Amino acid sequence: MAISDPVSTGPRHVAIIMDGNGRWATQRGRPRLFGHRAGARRVREVVESCPDVGVEYLTIFAFSTENWRRTQVEVAGLMSLFRMYISREARALDQFGVRVRFIGDRVRLDAKLVTLMDDLEKLTCNNTAVHLTIALNYGSRDEVARATKRLARDVAAGNLDPDDVNEETLPKYLDTCVLPDPDLVIRTSGEARISNFLLWQSAYAEYEFIDTLWPDFTKEEFAQLCASYGGRDRRFGGVKT
Ligand code: FPP
Repeated sequence: MAISDPVSTGPRHVAIIMDGNGRWATQRGRPRLFGHRAGARRVREVVESCPDVGVEYLTIFAFSTENWRRTQVEVAGLMSLFRMYISREARALDQFGVRVRFIGDRVRLDAKLVTLMDDLEKLTCNNTAVHLTIALNYGSRDEVARATKRLARDVAAGNLDPDDVNEETLPKYLDTCVLPDPDLVIRTSGEARISNFLLWQSAYAEYEFIDTLWPDFTKEEFAQLCASYGGRDRRFGGVKT
């Protein structure tokens, strides 16, 4: 583990809470969806800059389990934006070598969107340049509840001994089971909250809360944050040797 060599290593896995689309639009006298569309356009630049800054895994929070509480117009607009984004970006993401995965509960998502998500996962499943995970209808508490349900079923079926439930076995039931834990979590727009995002996985992550609204976020700022992470002293609860 890189606990005694904090200077040379940048973050391998960065997770981003893309916040501030609504305010960005309001500042311009435009509807909130205008901000979400602008936000969607920022994603490609950040994804494509990952190899330059040594980031292998990027996880972005696109829609939370709490976001259903927004107006019907905004929710419908976001769902339509996700469908359009996947349809329009699939080719470019694949050509760049991005492997796309989705986390979150698909049950409440419409069938057409779920088909597009499945197809994009299949199309990109052999890519390795960047591992992009899109959290869609995702909430950490919901994820842990769903994981616990699956785990309980395995115990009831005799496939798992309750004595074997520990910090190694439980994450195997999370949506993120194939991903390393995030090293750095960035939240844009000046809010210093975690908002139910990767709670278990980010136990030892570093956090950056920055004022930039998501539609203004650039690859330069991303590179800067990754570089300043390289200078941090992560001890994972231990002491430096
Ligand atoms: C938070 O900003 C943003 C969201 C709830 C949606 C995030 C979606 C995108 C960035 C665009 C689509 C992404 C993909 C992957 C296609 P907010 O609306 O809460 O902003 P506010 O706090 O200023 O109101």
